[in-house]
Amino acid sequence: MGQFFSIPEASSSKIHSRKIESDASSETVVDSLSKGPAEGFPLLEKAKGYYWYPGDGARILDACGGAGVACIGHARRDVAQAAVSQMKAFSYVSYAHFKAMPVQEVSDWLIQSTEGEMQKVYLMCSGSEAVEAALKLSREYFIWKDEPQRVNFIGREESYHGTTIGSLSASGHVVRRGPFEPILGPQFHKISSCNPYRQRHPEEGDEAFSTRKAVELEEKFQQLGPDTVAAVIMEPVVGAALGCVPAVQGYLRAMKIVCEKYGALLIFDEVMCGMGRTGSLHAWQREMVVPDLQTIGKGFAGGYMPASALLVGAKVTELMKREDKAFTHGHTYQNHPVVAATALKVQKIIQEENLIANVEAAGRTLEQVLHKLLGNHPNVGDIRGRGLFWGIEFVRDKATKEPFDPALQMAHQVFRVAMRDFRVLVYHGQGCAGDGRGDHIMIMPAYNMPETSILDVAKRVTRAVEKVFGGC
Ligand SMILES: Cc1ncc(COP(=O)(O)O)c(C=O)c1O
Repeated sequence: MGQFFSIPEASSSKIHSRKIESDASSETVVDSLSKGPAEGFPLLEKAKGYYWYPGDGARILDACGGAGVACIGHARRDVAQAAVSQMKAFSYVSYAHFKAMPVQEVSDWLIQSTEGEMQKVYLMCSGSEAVEAALKLSREYFIWKDEPQRVNFIGREESYHGTTIGSLSASGHVVRRGPFEPILGPQFHKISSCNPYRQRHPEEGDEAFSTRKAVELEEKFQQLGPDTVAAVIMEPVVGAALGCVPAVQGYLRAMKIVCEKYGALLIFDEVMCGMGRTGSLHAWQREMVVPDLQTIGKGFAGGYMPASALLVGAKVTELMKREDKAFTHGHTYQNHPVVAATALKVQKIIQEENLIANVEAAGRTLEQVLHKLLGNHPNVGDIRGRGLFWGIEFVRDKATKEPFDPALQMAHQVFRVAMRDFRVLVYHGQGCAGDGRGDHIMIMPAYNMPETSILDVAKRVTRAVEKVFGGC
């Protein structure tokens, strides 16, 4: 085998019962966004189905599809054909000149998938662009509505909405905001995340917990001036920042009621948790809490093209129509025909192969086996998720939930050991316990991964966790 990354000695010994050493400096914080490609592997030449082939005979089981992107596996010829056939017809047209047929088709398909709750689609390339557009459209909506004083946005702690200035301003991810803090927007405010593992009081049920969170949102509106808030943005199931934490039952509805009371828009960022990943095509469909604006990305084109979209609900489209307004926004690659044709093909495959049902079924299997294999591990604090979107949070002390020192980079160590020794790729992150502390990994297999491979993922991950922390 080629030369792989080095792992601190202490990581391979039983560490849940003793002091942990690390080679990391105390300033170093590593999560999947800040860390470059896996050291030691040759350049990637090939992937097929659920496997990466980075050379040297290595075959890596892909348990995360990058950041939850590759939702139908790698290198499918049928998707490649759809992209190529669009390129042969025409590969680019400016959205300002013509609307391309595949853009119309994928937009109609998306609108239909929401049963008409969303009425307009802006097709883009990255999740950050879609979020940026959602924030800007919220602002412009209130100009059309003659409420120009609405300049504030409310996001949540331990959230991630993107890497551009606006989307990062809306994010609560401490590590990713870090270097840019002084240039992030002062109009972006935060409330706490919805994280039952760390925030729920003893004996507090979902309803009481959601009510407490809604009161906090109300207080934030009052503090800012209720008529100064343009929008509240949240992920229905939090991805990279918390490690697959679904909102508790009733929370999204409680948040929506507060937004409606004060006339602000509600944006659901489904870039990571949407497009089938959590067991319904749109995450909001589980409780039928419809947002005013919705962003999608990642699983939309399954990584075959950089594809994202902003979906716009009736409240906004009706005002646009009534006032005869257009959104002052546009990218060169907006409404790209090849992106549209590819995304539509991926969505049709998901539909025709009934893959969302598989997400539900395989997700239940994954949930059960993770709990069985790792639920009692002394350094596994929480296993949470939905569909094929599962997070494992590591703690120094299971009883107190005390996280590890971030400098130890425990999640990153699990990621490295999993890849090097057990040939399984997972996504890792830090910050899930707040203030940049807390380590988690995320398991996000392709929707069509068979049950035997799902079990294989769980076993390999378990062995990596046991190698890093010691066994149960
Ligand atoms: C919820 C969420 N929103 C937005 C983004 C930004 O998407 P992109 O990295 O495609 O710009 C991400 C990326 O991880 C995300 O998870």
